[in-house]
Amino acid sequence: MTRLTIRRPDDWHLHLRDGALLGAVINDSARHFGRAIIMPNLVPPVITGDDAVAYRDRILDCVDPNYDFTPLMTLYLTETTKADDVTSAVKAGIIYAVKLYPAGATTNSASGVRDLDKVLPVLETMADLGLPLCVHGEVADPQVDIFDREAVFIQTVLDPLRRRIPKLRIVLEHVTTSDGVDYVRTGGANIAATITTHHLFINRNHILAGGIRPHYYCLPVAKRESHRRALIAAATSGDSSFFLGTDSAPHLDSAKLTSCGCAGIYTSPNTLSCLAHVFDVEDALHHLEGFTSVHGPKFYCLPVNKAQITLVKKIEPVIYPQSRNTDEGPVTIFDCGTPLYWAVEV
Ligand code: NCD
Ligand code: ZN
Repeated sequence: MTRLTIRRPDDWHLHLRDGALLGAVINDSARHFGRAIIMPNLVPPVITGDDAVAYRDRILDCVDPNYDFTPLMTLYLTETTKADDVTSAVKAGIIYAVKLYPAGATTNSASGVRDLDKVLPVLETMADLGLPLCVHGEVADPQVDIFDREAVFIQTVLDPLRRRIPKLRIVLEHVTTSDGVDYVRTGGANIAATITTHHLFINRNHILAGGIRPHYYCLPVAKRESHRRALIAAATSGDSSFFLGTDSAPHLDSAKLTSCGCAGIYTSPNTLSCLAHVFDVEDALHHLEGFTSVHGPKFYCLPVNKAQITLVKKIEPVIYPQSRNTDEGPVTIFDCGTPLYWAVEV
């Protein structure tokens, strides 16, 4: 197969940042994606419905008018978030999910949740509303090895929470382990998982063997090869519990190439080429549309996009720039480590 037409994809987990960086990266998403769930971990975070409206407007101001792109806003859950505020933001059509960051788990998570009991009333209200909770699924406990933090989170936080509020609809964001894949696959209709582009390509050796590669550092950190294989199997299986959330997370190179570099990989520009490559290698191109364009809207109870895109397999590799320039310096684009032949036809 050398041509593939699919419904326009959506990105169910995206960091767009703000200010100059927002302006520099937004159209890499708007070019290919119809909608995206916008992560609220700005500084300060997007906490109220008013914050979300203001951020949505700043995003839309930067979208190239040739592109049809809708940002789906989320709220950052804090221990002081009020259930009524969430309800009114949903009823006003402002938000599509709430994001749970365990405090200290990742970039800009300091305002996140330390004590889950404090947010139970909000979570119960969300269960009644059918509003999805997007979860950063890692414990932040420094005693827990960083490679175990997702599996420990599932056992000690996620599963107990789901037993307490079975109706709560949860997306386990950027799943990185076979433990997470198994949990979601067998977890029933109220749980799903996003899978990133980069976790389908890199395992922990890519970050650490033969030299340290800061541009492959993200959270959750990539795990060993058997976990990467489990993610590929889940993504390409056609199982509607799994869908694309790129977790494209641009950071300035100056913030990554330093003695304590930031976590995050910028994948928006070449994500669809990368995904088509993986699905092609796995002989699963017939499941690409489900993963990028159908399973996500189904879980979020939204219609699929009407527009389509066409992917074309070229004879020569498709070359992407190494970085995007911003007023504050370059942002490196994900290098998946293998030539890419699929490109979105323009
Ligand atoms: C994200 C970021 O930079 O905001 N970083 C990352 O490594 N994925 C935060 C997150 O999603 O954990
Ligand atoms: Zn993220």
